[in-house]
Amino acid sequence: MPLSLAVLLSGRGSNFAAIHDAIERGVLDARITAVISNRPGAPGIERARQWGYPAHVVDHKQFADRAAHEVEVLRLLAAADPHVIALAGYMRLLSADFVARYPHRIVNIHPSLLPSFPGVDAQAQAVAYGVKVSGCTVHFVDEHLDAGPIIVQRALEVRDDDTGETLAARILVEEHIAYVDALVKLSRGRFRVDGRRVVFE
Ligand code: GRF
Repeated sequence: MPLSLAVLLSGRGSNFAAIHDAIERGVLDARITAVISNRPGAPGIERARQWGYPAHVVDHKQFADRAAHEVEVLRLLAAADPHVIALAGYMRLLSADFVARYPHRIVNIHPSLLPSFPGVDAQAQAVAYGVKVSGCTVHFVDEHLDAGPIIVQRALEVRDDDTGETLAARILVEEHIAYVDALVKLSRGRFRVDGRRVVFE
C-alpha cells in the first residue's frame, strides 16, 4: 500500500517538489492526500495546485491563537487521513497536543546536523560557529524544537569561503535526497523507535 502523506509548508516548497518528483519517478511509493500552507502566497501551495493535489491555505493570521489555528489544520488532516505528516519548511511550532495526536508520524527536515544549530538560520549559525562539517537532518517531531529522534542525516564539508547563503544552497541539494530517503524508509514500515534511536529492521 502506498504511504499516505500530508505536506505542511510555508514557503518555496522545494522539499515538497523533491517528494513529488520521487513519487512521479516511482522511487517513493506514496500518495499525497493534502498540502496545507499557513501562508496564502506560498509558492509551495501554488505548486500543489498545479500538480492537482488537495491544497489548503490555513492562514494563521486569521485565527485568534495557536490553538484555534491548529484546530483547523487538524480538521483538514483528519479528513485527509495521512499516515505520515511531512513538514517541509513549515514555519510554525506545533503544540504538544498536536504532536501527541500523531506520535512518530510527523517528520521535519532541518538544515544542520542536529543537535547542532536548531532554530532559524541554521546554515548561517554553522558558518559563524566555524564548523568544518554541516548538513541536514530528517527527524520525527516531538514537542521540542528540532529535537525528535533522527531518521536520516547527510553531511557535507563547509568551505572556507562559505556564507550562510552558499552553504544553504549546497545543503538544500542534500535535503532533497535526505527527505526522499527518509520517506522511502518510513514507507517500508520496518522500523522501531527505541528511546531516541530510530532503528530500521
Ligand atoms: C529548508 O531549508 C528546510 O530545511 C527548512 O526550511 C527550508 C524549506 O525550504 N526547514 P523549501 O520550502 O522546502 O524549499
